[in-house]
Amino acid sequence: MQHKWKVASHLTKKDIVNYGSFYTPEKLKKYIENLIYENINVTTLDDFVLLDSSCGTGNLLSMPFKFKKIIGVDIDKDAIEIAKVRFNHQFYFNNFNALENISRDNYQLTCQDKLFIVGNPPYNDRTSIIQSYIKTYNIYNINPLVMHRDLGISFLLSYNLLKAEYICVLHPLSYLIKKSNFNSLGAFKENYKLIDSIIVSSSEFSLNSLSYFPIIIALYKRDVNGMNYDFITHYKFKTNNNNSFSIDKYDFISKYIDKYPNKNKVDTENIVAKFYTMRDINALKRSKTFINEDCSNAVYVTKNKYSLYCYVDVFKKYIHKLPYYFGNLDVFIDYDKFKSIAQEFIAYSETNIKNQKIDDYFIELFGENNENL
Ligand SMILES: C[S@@+](CC[C@H](N)C(=O)[O-])C[C@H]1O[C@@H](n2cnc3c(N)ncnc32)[C@H](O)[C@@H]1O
Repeated sequence: MQHKWKVASHLTKKDIVNYGSFYTPEKLKKYIENLIYENINVTTLDDFVLLDSSCGTGNLLSMPFKFKKIIGVDIDKDAIEIAKVRFNHQFYFNNFNALENISRDNYQLTCQDKLFIVGNPPYNDRTSIIQSYIKTYNIYNINPLVMHRDLGISFLLSYNLLKAEYICVLHPLSYLIKKSNFNSLGAFKENYKLIDSIIVSSSEFSLNSLSYFPIIIALYKRDVNGMNYDFITHYKFKTNNNNSFSIDKYDFISKYIDKYPNKNKVDTENIVAKFYTMRDINALKRSKTFINEDCSNAVYVTKNKYSLYCYVDVFKKYIHKLPYYFGNLDVFIDYDKFKSIAQEFIAYSETNIKNQKIDDYFIELFGENNENL
């Protein structure tokens, strides 16, 4: 039988989805410890209070460093009872909603206390259709200062309100690399800088899923200069298979074609095909490319852009060669090389007959990130 602190076996599937109760495995906790070891003088930590405001059964609280005080909070009363017994009542545990009244007083902290937040908060997009049959939109009250449709972003905003000096947290990589998500990090991104990180796959949580997405284990430090999106595009993201990538090395398809319905933008007389709305690489794995019928998700393809949409259609055939950590990026392209063989992309898309030049193009484009080299 699994220990209750490893899986939320005291909850129903519905509660697990709504509260995001996917507890952190020991292997990922080790990554957190390494990030702390490598970036912080650990002898100074005994001056810090360690807090996990969504601690579940407390997996992230037993660190191999000495802290002044250790506090765990969770909205799940049963999880807190398990944590109390598990840690023999050594740490301070409390049962409340960490996103409602967000203040240091709730944790009996003064403004002088140095705070180190650790966490794997629920990253549950309350509006997304995935598992929507069991999702409850308003599961609990959320302070308007941290309101967001994704609970994980609300938690990051709450850490900023608590003015933690360090935050070591697991969250989807998409919060940083998708510009709209990054912008919704508001005051968090203005007050914190990513100082080190490692990317792992959501498969580490052994969720049953058709496609896994990248999760970043990120160490942030409070910094008056914060971070802007330019910082993120130049940041070298390290992955758990000793690879790394930075977004500025890639040229994205969105620079050349419309990803979203463009009915009002294009000259309807020049339309030669229709394409399904494009999101990121993970979404492309599941979605259609060229479509016959018109629909609200249709993107109109004009003659002069046709080869680029064929490019996306062909890219989809090579996605399985990309590692999981590219899942939240847009389709990328080497535009000059593509231009020189654009006809080959059209031919492959229309006939599905493989072509060595296209194989070579993708071997070069994916480089060391090609899974099947
Ligand atoms: C992904 S689990 C992480 C638990 C633990 N930190 C770990 O890493 O194993 C997320 C936890 O957040 C808790 N949670 C969700 N919403 C919360 C809220 N508003 N306030 C406090 N805890 C919350 C859930 O009950 C769940 O235990």
